[in-house]
Amino acid sequence: DIEKIEKVMCAAPVIPVLIVEDPRKAVPMAEALVRGGLPAIEITLRTAHALEAINAVNEHVEGAIVGAGTVLDGKQYDAAVSAGARFIVSPGATANLLDAADQHSVPLLPGAATASEVMFLLERGYERLKFFPAEQAGGASYLKSLSSPLAAAKFCPTGGVSLDKAPDYLKLPNVLCVGGSWIADAKAIAEDDWSGIETRAKAAAALKI
Ligand code: 3PG
Repeated sequence: DIEKIEKVMCAAPVIPVLIVEDPRKAVPMAEALVRGGLPAIEITLRTAHALEAINAVNEHVEGAIVGAGTVLDGKQYDAAVSAGARFIVSPGATANLLDAADQHSVPLLPGAATASEVMFLLERGYERLKFFPAEQAGGASYLKSLSSPLAAAKFCPTGGVSLDKAPDYLKLPNVLCVGGSWIADAKAIAEDDWSGIETRAKAAAALKI
C-alpha cells in the first residue's frame, strides 16, 4: 500500500539498482551502500543467485531495506517475498502481477511509461510508480508533462539515469526519488570496489529532492 512503498521511495533520493552475479558480494556491497546513505536497494531477479543475495542482505545488513527488482509475474513475487524482499519492483504491470501483489503485504512499485499505463495503475489503486525506461521513454520533460493531467501519480524514474541527470527528475513535482545502476554497476561489484560504491552512494544521497 501507499505508505509502505512511499517509505521506501523517501528513504533517500536514489534507489540503487543492482545486478548481483555472486551472492557472496551482496553483503559487502549493501553495507557500502548503507554507509553511503542509500538504505533502500533493489536487487534485480536477473541472475541465478539474486534471491540468495536478497536473503543475505535482509539477514545480515543492518539498516538496509532490500527489495527485489525485475519481478515479472506472480511466481517471482512469491519467491521474492519468501527470500525476504521488503518491496517489489517491476518494469511494467500485468494482471497476473497485480493479483499476486494483492496476496502480499510486501508492497509493489509497478512500472509505467505512458498515460494509459499510468491510468490503468491508478484504477488499480497504485499512485506510486516506476517510470521506466526513463531516459529512453522521453526523460524528465516527458515525465513533467504527465504531472498536470495525472497529478496523483508520483514516480521513481529509472533507466539511463545518472548523477548528472538525476536533478532534472528530482525537481519535478511528480518525482519522489530516482533509480539507477550507476552507483554499483557490474564492474564495481566484480572488482569489490566497496569504497568506490560508498563514494558514489554519498554523492547520490546528497542530491536534493
Ligand atoms: C532497471 O532495471 O531499472 C534498469 O535496468 C536500471 O537502469 P540503468 O542501468 O540504466 O540505471
